[in-house]
Amino acid sequence: MKIDNTFGIEAQCRKLITYDSEEALRKALARIHKLYADLPLLHIGCGSNLLFLGNYEGIVLKSDIKGINLLQEDESEVTVEVGAGEVCDDFIAKAIRRGWYGMENLSLIPGQVGAAAVQNIGAYGVEACDVIDEVKGISLKDGAEHRWKRVECKYAYRRSIFKEELWGKYAITQVTFRLSKHFEPKLHYGGLAKAIEQAGLSISTLTAEQLRKVIIGIRHAKLPDPKEQGNAGSFFKNPVVPKEKAEQLLALFPTMPHYPAEEGKVKLAAGWLIEQAGWKGRSLGPAAVHDRQALVLVNKGGATGQDIQRLCEAIKKDVNERFGIALEPEVNFI
Ligand code: EPU
Repeated sequence: MKIDNTFGIEAQCRKLITYDSEEALRKALARIHKLYADLPLLHIGCGSNLLFLGNYEGIVLKSDIKGINLLQEDESEVTVEVGAGEVCDDFIAKAIRRGWYGMENLSLIPGQVGAAAVQNIGAYGVEACDVIDEVKGISLKDGAEHRWKRVECKYAYRRSIFKEELWGKYAITQVTFRLSKHFEPKLHYGGLAKAIEQAGLSISTLTAEQLRKVIIGIRHAKLPDPKEQGNAGSFFKNPVVPKEKAEQLLALFPTMPHYPAEEGKVKLAAGWLIEQAGWKGRSLGPAAVHDRQALVLVNKGGATGQDIQRLCEAIKKDVNERFGIALEPEVNFI
């Protein structure tokens, strides 16, 4: 059976099971353990962060758990439980319409709500973990339910407990968000305030709908639409390096973009490093580096996962030779 993925890479699996409730998931797991106990199991969302290097000789599970339930509300906040199979951007649009704020900057990021909690998606100065209160999941081994409060999810830049020690062990079924009833735009990310002014809008009267529109405009201008050209968004993580390393590089490349990160560290822009290494817009067979954002690798048509991997390795080698930095993919290789 074919596995959908935004890279548009042909990949088959032995069996694809979509479930729309926790009960259906538990039933599917019982069946899998009985009939296919020897096959590996992979849980996916919309396939927006996956690179298939070949067919997957196992069972693929996919969530279609829907639902947006208001759990609690006071004067300033709401707590909302959302099914992991909801499309994240649809939820953001609905939240804004209902007057629940905090996720505007994450507009148009592809993928489902469950994957957003696993990847700790982020854009324009906001990360999913800023608004996540709790994550609920079911053990793929025995169907037991587990809940993790935000601190237990070990969130950091594009990292979570679900991507690391719990990888492959749980299916996320619901994510609880804590959103504000008062719109406070987060505009500190470089260029965002300017983009708002360029759109003819005033920061003092900005609404959440307007901010969402501006963010969508920026993404459309820079990032390729997976429906037109296969891609998985940012292919690499922005590297976080020791302060001394950043200082050495800044002495050589004073215009290098850099951002404060955790204690004693600095985050660099992988897109800039890749562009400086001469890869922006370049192809290697059917795989290419996007010409408007070098952090995005694209399938020009008919690429295999290995074509993309070859391009990834060539970029890593050149960036390492030039800057002494080991880029790490953000995309999961399967
Ligand atoms: N830059 C270049 N050349 C490029 C791309 C970027 O010089 O080809 C420079 C830009 O001029 C800027 C800096 O690098 O000075 C950062 O660029 P940008 O603001 O486009 O953001 P990014 O760091 O490349 C990250 C996220 C994106 C997210 C944007 C906006 C990661 C891995 N990527 O990209 O997330 O949309 O910030 O917040 O953190 C995604 O994860 O799929 C994704 C698109």
